Amino acid sequence: MRIFITGIAGFVGYHLAIALSKRGNTVVGCDNFNAYYAPELKRARAKNLTGLGVHVFEGDITDTIFLEKHVVDFKITHFVNLAAQAGVRYSMVNPKSYVHSNLDGFASVLETVRRHPHIKLVYASSSSVYGLNQKIPFSEIDPTDHPSNLYAATKKANELMAFSYHQMYGISVTGLRYFTVYGPWGRPDMAYFSFAQAIWEEKPIQIYNQGNMQRDFTYIDDVIRGTIAAIDLGSPCEIFNLGNNHPESVLTLISLIEKYTGKKAMRELLPMQIGEVPITYADISKSNKELNFFPATSLEEGMGKFVEWYLSFRQ
Ligand SMILES: NC(=O)c1ccc[n+]([C@@H]2O[C@H](COP(=O)([O-])OP(=O)(O)OC[C@H]3O[C@@H](n4cnc5c(N)ncnc54)[C@H](O)[C@@H]3O)[C@@H](O)[C@H]2O)c1
Repeated sequence: MRIFITGIAGFVGYHLAIALSKRGNTVVGCDNFNAYYAPELKRARAKNLTGLGVHVFEGDITDTIFLEKHVVDFKITHFVNLAAQAGVRYSMVNPKSYVHSNLDGFASVLETVRRHPHIKLVYASSSSVYGLNQKIPFSEIDPTDHPSNLYAATKKANELMAFSYHQMYGISVTGLRYFTVYGPWGRPDMAYFSFAQAIWEEKPIQIYNQGNMQRDFTYIDDVIRGTIAAIDLGSPCEIFNLGNNHPESVLTLISLIEKYTGKKAMRELLPMQIGEVPITYADISKSNKELNFFPATSLEEGMGKFVEWYLSFRQ
């Protein structure tokens, strides 16, 4: 297997590249190292990957000539699209960046893959496509027509675009709806990371909806196992939830950070933010059955590993 990963210097891309190269696959990838969050962290991940023999190139997924060149040069058999503009709140600050990476970028990924129809495509979608759905847990067969922010709308669009390319060109497309992925080498823009940072630095943290928020926090190693199973399966056209199936309150998350840092959080309680949803909760029966996906890491265990990494990384 010769696998191309976009967003390889991102959180999920980094861990996926390590796991695939450890099992002997040829791993190649690209990242545009944008400044949405610290490019130094992305560069540090890329440096580690290069040290492991992974080929990391700087480039933007909207550049089809760039993608085509690497797909041909490395005789790619599998393509994993993780590059995206992530984040909910930032979609109100810089909406065009979502259109650029998630729509224009994903269109070039599809165009590249359809010119090499033997390549199997796996792409990141998101739990955010469930929007304001009331029915929990969220199942792949539930409607996803009410996104609560632009990020969610672009991820839903990716699923529709992938479906249409499967219909038109017969390419293999698998979408993965990730649920709040966390762990070492994680994303500084996400609450588990920014809370840990603020608590360690003894700064206040802002807690939305008075803390009445639940997330199906999913540990990175579990997500990587599910992603690799989807790559290996190479389904014709499917969508899978990859979540922990065990939502936890944001207040539980904060108390775990307090426990592992040994510091007390300074809580600033705020109302619900525009675009946020009160709960995410994955029904993973389809992923259990078809991907043999059984997440094994509790939030307590996973946050212990995250805080340990965070404290060593900031030294
Ligand atoms: N982490 C989560 O909790 C989560 C949840 C749901 C969905 N997802 C999705 O999973 C994927 C990976 O997420 P992540 O947490 O690793 O995010 P990340 O931001 O750490 O990684 C994305 C990487 O893509 C790169 N990138 C962005 N736009 C690009 C472009 N136009 N061309 C080339 N590179 C570009 C960024 O520099 C970054 O390194 C994303 O598609 C994200 O939307 C993540």
